[in-house]
Amino acid sequence: MLPTSKLLVLVFIHFIGGILIGHFIANNRVLYETNFVLSPSSIESRGALKRTQNSTSHVVIVDFSKPVNVTFKCMKTKTLLNYFNSHICVYDSQKDIYVSNSFRESTSIWEEEGVTRILRVLLRYPHLDFIDIGANIGTYTMYAAALGRFVLSIECFGPNVDRIHRAVQLADVGNRIALIQNALYTKSGEYLKLSNDALNVGGQELDAAMKPNISKPLSQNQSLSNPYVVKTIQFDDLLPVLRERGLRSAIMKVDIEGSESFVVEAGSQIFDSFDIPMVQIEWLKVRVFPKRVNTLIDFFVKRNYEPRTFQCQLLAMNELAKWPNDFCWTKKNFTFC
Ligand SMILES: *[C@@H]1O[C@H](CO)[C@@H](O)[C@H](O)[C@H]1NC(C)=O
Ligand SMILES: *[C@@H]1O[C@H](CO)[C@@H](O)[C@H](O)[C@H]1NC(C)=O
Ligand SMILES: *[C@@H]1O[C@H](CO)[C@@H](O)[C@H](O)[C@H]1NC(C)=O
Ligand SMILES: *[C@@H]1O[C@H](CO)[C@@H](O)[C@H](O)[C@H]1NC(C)=O
Ligand SMILES: *[C@@H]1O[C@H](CO)[C@@H](O)[C@H](O)[C@H]1NC(C)=O
Repeated sequence: MLPTSKLLVLVFIHFIGGILIGHFIANNRVLYETNFVLSPSSIESRGALKRTQNSTSHVVIVDFSKPVNVTFKCMKTKTLLNYFNSHICVYDSQKDIYVSNSFRESTSIWEEEGVTRILRVLLRYPHLDFIDIGANIGTYTMYAAALGRFVLSIECFGPNVDRIHRAVQLADVGNRIALIQNALYTKSGEYLKLSNDALNVGGQELDAAMKPNISKPLSQNQSLSNPYVVKTIQFDDLLPVLRERGLRSAIMKVDIEGSESFVVEAGSQIFDSFDIPMVQIEWLKVRVFPKRVNTLIDFFVKRNYEPRTFQCQLLAMNELAKWPNDFCWTKKNFTFC
């Protein structure tokens, strides 16, 4: 049995320790609330947490509280499913003959069928957030945010990022979107050349993806003055961002002009950490690279995904040539039709 004096000392130490721990917790809470109050808008608390700061990370997160210093045409977009609309900022239609040119205020948008499909899935599964890889000017990103879900939006081309940035401000949804200005690749922190398509901004592709044998890394200097030099990250570099935003389960759209395999090559931790029951993928350019096709198929099949058309028909593994240019990988217990 302890003598009374020792017992008193122990009680005292516990008492002081408790005060210190309480103080620490209270300070953390104040820090958290301060960050929340400072966020640009406050429709919803989730997503409005503090910014990830990590000097060794190559991830570039757009700060929506900053002004956008370029002007371009912005408009309200068509209402889908009788309820959901947003804002979009476009290029001159002669410079972007597919995506920008398809937007007519209140009557048409880019890939309306695809956006509507994603909205229906989000409505049917209220626990799902959205990951938009290759966001372009933000068509899918803005509608998913209009529905109230958290959106991780990845886009490497600065002029596209500026347009999403402005649309996010106009729609006041900055607290639900993390916009990342990087290209996904197998290595982080490289500067790579993006092709320049004068008529179709959305068709621009990494040289490293389409001409792997002639592309070489560039320097940071070149990226400062040239939007066609983009900085790479691995998809897994975004794990801390997703954790911080409280993501648990999300569906994904991947449309990055031949770079699609890089997402899974450097993204297995994200697929291991979160439930991702559906991945809408563009197959058009990546399909001509047999090694990357194998990488993608191995990755998804090992993780219990099946390839399905947008009408939910199973695609045959022995008929790769017949696979469409866009389809969905879905988990076996998940249906979207
Ligand atoms: C910082 O980022 C690097 C590279 O993404 C990562 O390896 C490291 O764990 C991060 N550190 C912290 C403290 O988050
Ligand atoms: C716009 O210009 C201001 C002032 O130079 C700068 O602080 C801000 O970062 C710029 N915005 C963006 C999005 O680069
Ligand atoms: C790069 O590889 C492609 C196909 O593998 C080949 O057709 C092309 O000639 C190569 N280009 C150079 C510059 O080596
Ligand atoms: C980048 O620019 C800085 C300052 O202008 C210069 O000192 C440096 O040598 C440049 N680096 C390269 C690789 O061009
Ligand atoms: C499918 O299975 C996974 C893993 O068992 C589970 O986390 C997920 O909730 C299931 N999804 C549906 C729609 O049942």
